[in-house]
Amino acid sequence: MLELLKTRRSTRKYKDLQVEKADLDKMLKAALLAPSGKNIMPLEFVVIEDKETLLKLETCKHPGAVALKTAPLAIVVIGDTEKSDTWIEDASIASILIQLQAEALDLGSCWIQSSKRKSQTGENSEDAVRKILDIPANYGVLNIITVGHKDETLKAYDESNLNFTKVHYAKY
Ligand SMILES: Cc1cc2nc3c(=O)[nH]c(=O)nc-3n(C[C@H](O)[C@H](O)[C@H](O)COP(=O)(O)O)c2cc1C
Repeated sequence: MLELLKTRRSTRKYKDLQVEKADLDKMLKAALLAPSGKNIMPLEFVVIEDKETLLKLETCKHPGAVALKTAPLAIVVIGDTEKSDTWIEDASIASILIQLQAEALDLGSCWIQSSKRKSQTGENSEDAVRKILDIPANYGVLNIITVGHKDETLKAYDESNLNFTKVHYAKY
């Protein structure tokens, strides 16, 4: 587990190669296995493989959506805001599980934030994503997770990156 956590880095450049269906299914299984507050399971996932739509989604976040320029796949993580008051926490857990499963398959991934962010035109990023993907208004859009075969090499973390001064024992 620690090796996987050290190796996972945000990949923003992908090869022009599709992600295998079996690998996509594994990432979706990881997402669907995520725990949720009160076990309400308010999350849904929108899988995008169409290049034109991926490029449209790039305009929904500015800056910081460069990963969508080359990604062959994105999973949009949404939660029913009327069903649960922990949908953001739930969606965050599912997101990192998708990213870790991607890394376990030697695929790169990147979290592109929508919640509390703006689009290229200054519009609310969540509204922009909802419009493009026909997502109902009661669903919050936490992020867009891009996935693909890595076309850049980022250094894995090692023990020297771990800041143990952030850890407090017994009292702050
Ligand atoms: C809540 C959250 C929001 C993020 N938003 C973006 C984003 O909008 N665009 C982006 O390219 N990366 C985004 N990232 C990725 C971070 O920039 C990245 O995880 C961080 O710089 C550490 O790098 P690493 O993932 O390679 O360890 C986000 C990550 C998190 C956890």
